[in-house]
Amino acid sequence: MSPLSSQRRRIVVGVGGGIAAYKACGVIRHFTEAGDDVRVVPTESALQFVGRATFEALSGNPVHTGVFADVPEVPHVRLGQEADLVVVAPATADLLARVAAGRADDLLTATLLTARCPVVFAPAMHTEMWEHPATVENVATLRRRGVTVIEPASGRLTGKDTGPGRLPEPDEIAAIAELLAERGDALPRSLDGRRLVISAGGTREPLDPVRFLGNRSSGKQGYALARVAAQRGAEVTLISGYTADLAPPSAVSVVSVRTAQEMQSAVREAAARADAVVMAAAVADFRPATVATSKIKKGADEPDTVPLTRNDDILAGLVAARAEGDLPADLVIVGFAAETGDENGDVLTHARAKLERKKCDLLVVNAVGEGKAFEMDVNDGWILSADGSETALEHGSKALMASRVLDAVTPLLTPTIGRPAADGECTNTGSSH
Ligand SMILES: Cc1cc2nc3c(=O)[nH]c(=O)nc-3n(C[C@H](O)[C@H](O)[C@H](O)COP(=O)(O)O)c2cc1C
Repeated sequence: MSPLSSQRRRIVVGVGGGIAAYKACGVIRHFTEAGDDVRVVPTESALQFVGRATFEALSGNPVHTGVFADVPEVPHVRLGQEADLVVVAPATADLLARVAAGRADDLLTATLLTARCPVVFAPAMHTEMWEHPATVENVATLRRRGVTVIEPASGRLTGKDTGPGRLPEPDEIAAIAELLAERGDALPRSLDGRRLVISAGGTREPLDPVRFLGNRSSGKQGYALARVAAQRGAEVTLISGYTADLAPPSAVSVVSVRTAQEMQSAVREAAARADAVVMAAAVADFRPATVATSKIKKGADEPDTVPLTRNDDILAGLVAARAEGDLPADLVIVGFAAETGDENGDVLTHARAKLERKKCDLLVVNAVGEGKAFEMDVNDGWILSADGSETALEHGSKALMASRVLDAVTPLLTPTIGRPAADGECTNTGSSH
């Protein structure tokens, strides 16, 4: 969007008084670079960590902490009323408590009481504070009210200690905030306590120690699925092949694999404990039949052709293993299809045939080709269901598409009532790290 457009989004970035307040600068920069009108509202404590001048210079707007500055403009109600999105990063334990209690004792809490747009909190604090029942209840209260509270990352905290409570990187916070802005509502916690396995990226099938057969998958769609599933409450195992330069989403366990065979065994192992598997990876159908132990040289011995052998079909293998009782009978299996039309039919015709062959529960279909799907940040397509229903996926970010796919997975999951509880459910540490 042009910075001069009258349609500029109005974004409020709230900043709490935590050691990670400096990372708010990256979040502010994301929105100013997108052309948004950004108002930074720090707490008084936040200014102990980052100076007012930094926030004013980055946002290009004046910065106040109390409700008695600029009174004729009534900013304590106007900022919230007019905002299109409020992002609070970092959200301290204290700030979560004040907001959950409905306090309005500074400009940020007053703004949060008047905001009717999507609101996202990115908490950051020591693990003990994050796991304290008071914070757990405050987070649950806010989520119940339709606020999105991002799962913190796990890692190095203020001192020498490590654990869950770290503020995710600014790009991660911005990606989730942008999804909320696109959706226009909070992320439902419909996957709380669920275990999801998501594959992403492309495999590489070695030919010799320096060469491989690969593909153009960037991994963006699978990483978006993992990010959104974790923020909807799932415990996510992301089985990742090769990707573009992507940072792993926070609150997700990543298993790195290289070849289709490695991906198959990692997916099968994780699927045994999962509620759903989403196969978004681009897995090679074939691999070189033999792998040379030294680099293949030009010259008299150079091969004319490269014989290929077929890799197992991981998706079909999951469906067969479920039918044979080797995987849970209620495991939901979702495939992805990258299709092009040809003389035998259009994209949907091929996709319907693929669903029929693979017998998975849902098939997400992308039309691929020049400027579509691969390596792009946006996507569209359809979700075909084993029950015959077909849903068009509107054009939007890969995060929005991920969100729509997870909307379709949720009703297929076996109700949790009466099921044995998964280990570690129902706490703020529910996601694995
Ligand atoms: C060096 C230092 C680092 C702190 N880091 C955090 C933190 O990461 N998270 C947190 O919840 N509180 C942290 N605190 C405590 C808060 O600053 C304190 O609770 C304050 O009242 C928060 O005010 P606010 O919520 O209005 O910003 C820290 C305090 C100090 C002195």
